[in-house]
This record gives sequence, structure tokens and C-alpha cells, in this order.
Amino acid sequence: MDFSSLIEKRESTRNYDPNRSIPKKDILYCLEVVRLAPSASNAQPFFFHICEGEKAKKVAKATQSLGMNRFTDHAPMMVVISEASYNITAAVGARVRDQDYRALDIGIAAIHFCLAATEKNLGTCMLGWFDEKRIQNILGIKERIRLVISVGYPKEETIRKKSRKPLEKLTDFSVEKR
Ligand SMILES: Cc1cc2nc3c(=O)[nH]c(=O)nc-3n(C[C@H](O)[C@H](O)[C@H](O)COP(=O)(O)O)c2cc1C
Repeated sequence: MDFSSLIEKRESTRNYDPNRSIPKKDILYCLEVVRLAPSASNAQPFFFHICEGEKAKKVAKATQSLGMNRFTDHAPMMVVISEASYNITAAVGARVRDQDYRALDIGIAAIHFCLAATEKNLGTCMLGWFDEKRIQNILGIKERIRLVISVGYPKEETIRKKSRKPLEKLTDFSVEKR
């Protein structure tokens, strides 16, 4: 699939086929694409927890407070991304530059995962709304949880039109300036 088709095809899927499980080789492919993602000082400060079956159901429930994200009940897989420690170079760079590169690195790794999944005809939805403590308990970990991704085959094949700000609101680039 060419890059622009992949970008067009990737969308937040909120309607999964609960009866279609995900081939292990496809998830391994997505994780290999994650492994190749760039990160500040090559620190790779993330860990992907792949949850299926009962664990996926529990994680899904932990994304549903206040009526949010009910669709995750039908996702056969929930991926939790926890934050791992920086390496020393990234830690020093972050301190000196007053930037948190870990959140950036996790975002980049997450979109690598989602695009690879799209290539394999899987649907994904990144979820920033979740109960961190509850997920830490489910996984038995203390690390910060930064993002959850629901994964499964979409029930519908049609791709929605993307709703985005116009380019002028996102950049000062203009052809006239050249
Ligand atoms: C960091 C992050 C957190 C998000 N959290 C949620 C969420 O909790 N629930 C949800 O339904 N969508 C969530 N989304 C999906 C966005 O709503 C979606 O990406 C945006 O509306 C653009 O639509 P598209 O992904 O279909 O192109 C999140 C996306 C990102 C990047």
C-alpha cells in the first residue's frame, strides 16, 4: 500500500468485529514496526502490553468511565503503552532543554503501530481516556501508563472523510513567500 493510501485509510475505529481474532504474525509485524520507530537518543522509553481475552475486557472497562469508550467492549485486543525509563543521554537532554521526549517517543511509536495495523487491514483507536491506577493493577505494574490502543477488524469497510483544520491554521508556509 502506498503511503498516502495508508494515511487515508488509517482512522479511529470504534466498531469492531468481536468474533474475529487477530493473527499473531500480524501483531508481531506491528510490534516490529514499533521497534523501528525513532526516539530521542534512541532511548525507546516505552513498553507495549498486548492484552487479549479476559485481560483485554478488563482493560476495556478501565477506559469507560463517564460513559466514554463503550465500543472497546468489542475490541478483541487492547494494547497498553507504559513509560519506561530514559537512557542517560535522553534524560540529560530533556532536563537541559526542558522537554519531555518520552511522551513524544510514545506518540511516535503509537502511530507506527497504528499505521502498521492499518496496512494489515486492522482497525485501531488510540485512547487517552483511561483509569491509570486500574490498568496498573490489571497489569501488575507501577510504571506510568501513557496510552491505550484498541485493536480489531473493523465491522465496516468504508473510510470516513477526515475532519481537519485547514492548512493555514496549522502552518505559516505559503507558496507566495517563495
Ligand atoms: C492521544 C490521543 C488520545 C485519544 N483518545 C481517544 C479516546 O479516549 N476515545 C476516542 O474515542 N478517541 C480517542 N482518540 C482518537 C481521536 O479522537 C481521533 O484521532 C481524532 O478525532 C481524528 O480522527 P481519526 O483518528 O479517525 O482520523 C485519541 C487520539 C489521540 C491521538
